[in-house]
Order: sequence, then structure tokens, then C-alpha cells
Amino acid sequence: MSVQFQTTHEIIATARKNVSQNVWNYITGAAETETTLRRNRHALDCLALRPRILRDVSEIDASTSFLGHKLRIPAMVAPVGSLQTITPEGGIAVAKAVAEFGIMNFISTVTEPSLEEIAASTDHPKFFQIYIRGDKQWVDDLIDRAVGAGYAGLCLTVDSAYYGRRERQLISGWLPPSIRSNPKRVHQTKLTWKWMSEMKARGGDLPFMLKGVQTAEDAAIAVEHGVDVIYVSNHGGRQMDHVSGTMAMLPEIVNAVDGAAEVIIDGGFMRGTDVLKAIALGARAVGLGRFHAWALAAGGQEGLVRALEILEAEIKNSMGLIGLTSIDQIDKSYIAAAPAVSDAHELGAFPFLPDIPRV
Ligand SMILES: Cc1cc2nc3c(=O)[nH]c(=O)nc-3n(C[C@H](O)[C@H](O)[C@H](O)COP(=O)(O)O)c2cc1C
Repeated sequence: MSVQFQTTHEIIATARKNVSQNVWNYITGAAETETTLRRNRHALDCLALRPRILRDVSEIDASTSFLGHKLRIPAMVAPVGSLQTITPEGGIAVAKAVAEFGIMNFISTVTEPSLEEIAASTDHPKFFQIYIRGDKQWVDDLIDRAVGAGYAGLCLTVDSAYYGRRERQLISGWLPPSIRSNPKRVHQTKLTWKWMSEMKARGGDLPFMLKGVQTAEDAAIAVEHGVDVIYVSNHGGRQMDHVSGTMAMLPEIVNAVDGAAEVIIDGGFMRGTDVLKAIALGARAVGLGRFHAWALAAGGQEGLVRALEILEAEIKNSMGLIGLTSIDQIDKSYIAAAPAVSDAHELGAFPFLPDIPRV
């Protein structure tokens, strides 16, 4: 890579220069007033870490495992649709970067190239994220294709009965390819616990995740239905506006699940300290949405690898400074409530971007 980024600030500044205003709006924007987007950041900003001292932190291991797979850091690349608008190789750039770095990723139903081509592009295990764009037969065929292509798990997104009203897109009139022509989207509004169970059964032994769980009540119902992974998410604020930040939801959901399923989370995770806060409050790993989309925009596959290296450096540095040598040592005793010190917004984790127009 011609530029060796030292910080995520530089990655975001480069992404902003590389993409059109329309693609920037697509990656960065959220629904309506973008309050949910801001609350994701605000919930993270309202937690402080409690460092412990005089421990030998000369060797630090930031790795963990998820569903039997090793993760070099407790983070995964979240599903993002229409990746081909951000980098020409689309989902293949993500798969190659993630394989090279050593974590896992989710492939969206609505990205390019095909789920088979992305699966075949690397050997590392990846998860397939399901959107409903047809009837039961259509979904069964999609699941059979994902199973046949060798995906390591299925992830059903459940916060998207309707497409959020993303006003940056409505004002500019530009929609991502996945949304431009979608008459079959109506099937998504008919999704129920019963249909979800049928999809889970169709996947056979593959781990099944629900992405978009936002309450303890639904987490408990999901566990009753045998769901393997509760993915706490509000879609990065792109769907329902005026819900809570995901880090504010996490404790009640971890409590309701009570170890009966894995819990993962996304929404505003940009920094090593963000990741550690989620693990301390009971998540197994975090999903990276805009973080990875910006990295792809800045430098494709190489840009994403570099962004993950920077995130790892931040995680390890923070672990050493709070007195931890392995991820399983962190728990809620390392967390305190704290007032946020700045306004939360989509670039709130990056205070040194004065020249970047936010819209
Ligand atoms: C450009 C973009 C496209 C997305 N497309 C999908 C998608 O196809 N399927 C899905 O389940 N979530 C999708 N999401 C939501 C992410 O998976 C994730 O939940 C969200 O980005 C997390 O918030 P963050 O961006 O603040 O990290 C998308 C997010 C972005 C930014």
C-alpha cells in the first residue's frame, strides 16, 4: 500500500476522499434523525475503564474463540450489502482481508459477487447473512446454496421488516443497488418465529444466529427456540430510529441469555477500548460495520487488513494499560459509568478530522 496508515483517522480521511458523496452517504448515514446512530456511540462513551496496576503485562494475547473458531482479536466483520460500490472486488476483498488477518466475517445476501464465488475465494470459515427476498421456496434454496458453499453458520437479520428511512439517501436520490429494484422485499415483512425455526432446521447442524435482537424478552424467546447466537444490533442506526444504543441493551440481554447462547454485538465499534468494553459486559466478540466499509474505501483488501492491525494494536495497548494479558480476564469489574465528554456522532470516535465535511 502506498500509504502506511498509522491511525484510523487517516483511513477515514482517505475513504472520504476516495468515494463519491452518494457512497459516503450510503456507508455513513442512518435512519431519520440518526439518533440511534448517535446513541450507539454515546452508550460506548458513557463507560469508563478501571485500570489495575503492578501486574506483569509483558506478554499479551488478544485472541479469543467463537463457535470453535479462533479469532485473532474479539471482532468480526459485520455483513454489508452492495460492497461492490465501495471496492471493485466486493465481498472477495473482505474475505481475503479477513483470511489474511485471522478473524471471521459475515457475507450479506445482497452483496456481490455471488455467495458461492465469495465462499470459494478463501478457505477460512465465514457466516452467511440471510435477507428474505422471496417466498419460503426462495429462502430454502438460498439456505441450501449457503450450506452447499460451505459457510460455517447462518445469520438471519431480524430488524429489517421495512427499509429504514435513510434521509441522506432520500435527499440525494441515490440508492444502493441492493435496494434499487426489490419487489420481493415484501416477504421480509412476513417473517415470524415459526418461519425462523424452519430456516434454522433447513440449515441442519449449522450454528444459527439472530442479528438485530434488542430486548431481553426476545433474547429469552430466541434461546427457547434453540438459537445458537444472539447478535445484539440496531443495524448501526440504519433501521429503527430512537432506540437505545446497543451497549445500553447489552447487560439485560446477557442476563436473560444466562450462558444458554453466545452473545455478540455491533453498533459504533471503532476503537480498541470499545471492543474491551463489550467483552467486559459479556459479549464474546463485536461486529465491525462502518469501520470496515471505510477501510475498504480507503484501500480495498490492504486497507482493511491495515485497519484491523491498528484495531489490534489499540486492543493490546489498552489491555496492557489496564493490567490484562488475555481476553478472558476482563469482566464488569473493569467498567464504571462515566459522563460522555463530547457530542456523539458518526465520526465521534475520531476527533482529529477537522477538514472532513460530515455531510
Ligand atoms: C453500508 C452498510 C451496509 C449494510 N448492509 C447490511 C446487510 O446487508 N445486512 C445486514 O444484516 N446488516 C447490514 N448492515 C449493518 C451492519 O451489519 C451492522 O449491523 C452495523 O453497520 C453496525 O454498526 P456500525 O456501522 O456502527 O459498526 C450494513 C451496514 C452498513 C454501514
